Amino acid sequence: MKFFVDTANLDQIREAQDLGVLDGVTTNPSLMAKEGITGTDAVMNHYKAICDIVDGDVSAEVISTDFEGMIREGENLAQIDDKIVVKVPMIKEGVKALRWFSDHGIKTNCTLVFSAGQAILAAKAGATYLSPFIGRIDDINWDGMELIAQIANIYAIQGFSTEILAASIRNPLHIVKAAEAGADVCTCPLSSITGLLNHPLTDIGLAKFLEDHQKSQSL
Ligand code: E4P
Repeated sequence: MKFFVDTANLDQIREAQDLGVLDGVTTNPSLMAKEGITGTDAVMNHYKAICDIVDGDVSAEVISTDFEGMIREGENLAQIDDKIVVKVPMIKEGVKALRWFSDHGIKTNCTLVFSAGQAILAAKAGATYLSPFIGRIDDINWDGMELIAQIANIYAIQGFSTEILAASIRNPLHIVKAAEAGADVCTCPLSSITGLLNHPLTDIGLAKFLEDHQKSQSL
């Protein structure tokens, strides 16, 4: 399973890259706004800065909701760097745009996916990645992970090549469960990735090893 970091914060992206386990980055308009990135030039420069840090794919979301606007924006975004993946919402115009981008060799990430039906449509339209939003489904008291498993099963049966990108990850356990459920990629806050490190027995064991080593040195 690939690891993407879900942020537009350059320091966090650098930290994830330095860890040596990063395969890409996802952003969305809310994450860009959180970093105070506004205006077309600043947005384009920021995506370029992200692409210069990471080795893998970088999802950049279109703002337009009409087909022509999405194509115009997506073409501009794709020109920033070969790593750019155009992120398109799961709406009717978005499905048309996914097909167009696929036919023109531009990678896509279909976002705001909440059902298996939407997942089938996106795969039929040639999406490179599909982003079901686990955390937001859990937030309304449904089971986000069940959706990942259902889509993984459908894609395997049907032979769809679209990669399942588990999104809206809120904690380390989501990452483990998404891996079990068959996600190809997890996009996570940095805190969820580093949260995978934590186990009290590791801390206790390391403290004991270091203590015993110190003792043996003073014999
Ligand atoms: C990433 O592609 C999604 O936009 C993101 O994971 C959504 O996360 P949220 O539900 O925490 O906003």
